[in-house]
Amino acid sequence: MSDRAKSIVSAGYDAIAEEFLDWSLKVVDPVRDRLFAELVARLPEGAAVLDIGCGAGIPWTRALADRFDVTGIDISSRQVEAARLNVPVATFIVGDISSASFEARSLGGIIAFYSIAHLPVDEHGPLLDRLARWLRPGGLLLASVPVAESAGWTGEWLGTTMFFGSLGAEAYLALLRSLDFELLAAEESTVQEPEGPTDFLWVLARRAQR
Ligand SMILES: C[S@@+](CC[C@H](N)C(=O)[O-])C[C@H]1O[C@@H](n2cnc3c(N)ncnc32)[C@H](O)[C@@H]1O
Repeated sequence: MSDRAKSIVSAGYDAIAEEFLDWSLKVVDPVRDRLFAELVARLPEGAAVLDIGCGAGIPWTRALADRFDVTGIDISSRQVEAARLNVPVATFIVGDISSASFEARSLGGIIAFYSIAHLPVDEHGPLLDRLARWLRPGGLLLASVPVAESAGWTGEWLGTTMFFGSLGAEAYLALLRSLDFELLAAEESTVQEPEGPTDFLWVLARRAQR
């Protein structure tokens, strides 16, 4: 399933590159906006920040790039093409976050906005484990995951075929605690998407100081 899910997601985001950006800018998520502001306020100036599933780089990668040394990674080459034009000062990688590698303790912050749900669920735990290792002691993770558990769903979404899965909110919180993350915030948000509401869990977590 893993390779199939990845192909579905990369082809899907390639196919809806422009439409997705228009759609995503209509999504209303006050919890996201508040925690993003908190992340930016807490990060030291010039910190190395990774944006997982950066899409076209608007608005999150671009806002981060004003103050930090930002790398965006995305599995969709068309999304990265747009991101390179939209945020020329940032560094971008076309690739799957599950097979990417960053130096241990090299990152001050990591964001993953609505992207982890596109990975097969058996990769979510190993991914969080690797994120913990890439962060510096005290480094910050801000991520969203769907509240509802789903072993994997493939279907029509925004006019293309898409894959989503989730371990469920409680499982992510348990995983983060087991990885020695301190949860600075863990809030469920009813996100208003153009088609209607969807529930996400937002976590702002700090890697242990050691
Ligand atoms: C819902 S969009 C979110 C885009 C952006 N973070 C935002 O909030 O507007 C999810 C993004 O994650 C990317 N993505 C999905 N699976 C990925 C993977 N395995 N590795 C890297 N990027 C991935 C998709 O291509 C897509 O651009």
